[in-house]
Amino acid sequence: EKGTYAHYMLKEIDEQPFVIRNIIQQYQDEQNEIKLSKDIRKAVGNADRIYIIAAGTSYHAGLVGKELLEKVAGIPVEVHIASEFLYNQPLLSEKPLFIFISQSGETADSRGVLVNVKKAGLPSVTITNVPGSTLDREADFALYTYAGPEIAVASTKAYTAQMAVLSILAMDAAIAKGIDTDFDAIHELSIVANAIEVLTDAKDEMEQIARDYLLETRNAFFIGRGFDYHVVQEGALKLKEISYIQAEGFAGGELKHGTIALIEDGTPVIALATQQSVNLNIRGNLQEVVSRGANPCVVSMDGLNRKGDNVVIPKVHDYLTPLASVIPLQLISYYAALHRGCDVDKPRNLAKSVTVE
Ligand code: F6R
Repeated sequence: EKGTYAHYMLKEIDEQPFVIRNIIQQYQDEQNEIKLSKDIRKAVGNADRIYIIAAGTSYHAGLVGKELLEKVAGIPVEVHIASEFLYNQPLLSEKPLFIFISQSGETADSRGVLVNVKKAGLPSVTITNVPGSTLDREADFALYTYAGPEIAVASTKAYTAQMAVLSILAMDAAIAKGIDTDFDAIHELSIVANAIEVLTDAKDEMEQIARDYLLETRNAFFIGRGFDYHVVQEGALKLKEISYIQAEGFAGGELKHGTIALIEDGTPVIALATQQSVNLNIRGNLQEVVSRGANPCVVSMDGLNRKGDNVVIPKVHDYLTPLASVIPLQLISYYAALHRGCDVDKPRNLAKSVTVE
């Protein structure tokens, strides 16, 4: 039930700190060690390459999952859109492991790939929010996101939950491989949960940004680099699916290779700048659009934007910034849709789970 909330989407955005804390509990044993089945550990340990298969928002979580598994555990990962993989399979490594990411566990394109994977006798893990769903039942192993039912068509808490579980999986794989990592997913996730709480409390600020930047516009651009690039793709998807504003997420460095031609006086550009290693680069990209008239809004941990608005997110581990930086983007999308009179929980032309190809 949505209780006092006007929409499920807002309720589900607000649930994210609890979801992260619940995941921490579910994946920790009494000795504060990561609790994961030996079989999954073995499957990950045996793989020479992981293939992540997903669609939509779950695909965006997969992009972050790749970074985590590669950076923390040193396992090469490819992320594929399920519908593409299904009809255009790339060359596989010798010992692949397939990870399906799906909130519903029913997405037809992903199910199609799993059928082929099973026919080929290759191992599979599903990360899903719905125990007993098709992808859960048919994969060799399953991990749950414990986010509780997600009712709003636009996925929010399922996305952060998927990334949280992927961070735990990455850390577990690192430990199993004897890699000396100082990334403590559980500890860092508890910091993230607190950060999300701070961000979900900043609703008035996000509502104002939605009004100032997105009430009248036909389009909006999101830019970022590294982890931020993955999050801006999700931010753009959120905005377009519920507010019908044409929005795209771009890699900051790609702008000058074409897209910058679209920047006009007043074009809203939301930049994510949470990654220390590329902060100067993304700030340079921001300059490029501002000097062509863009109306910039920057989401960062330091709030150093000199023109336009700043959204400051609390300090979290570099690898987990997506779980925090997506929160303002979810809220801005929500308020943009609300004030443009859109049906937030049931956007036109969309279904919660896409069970046909
Ligand atoms: C976006 C959204 C969709 C789903 C996609 C995959 O907000 O909800 O893009 O993420 O249809 O669905 P699942 O995760 O159920 O496989």
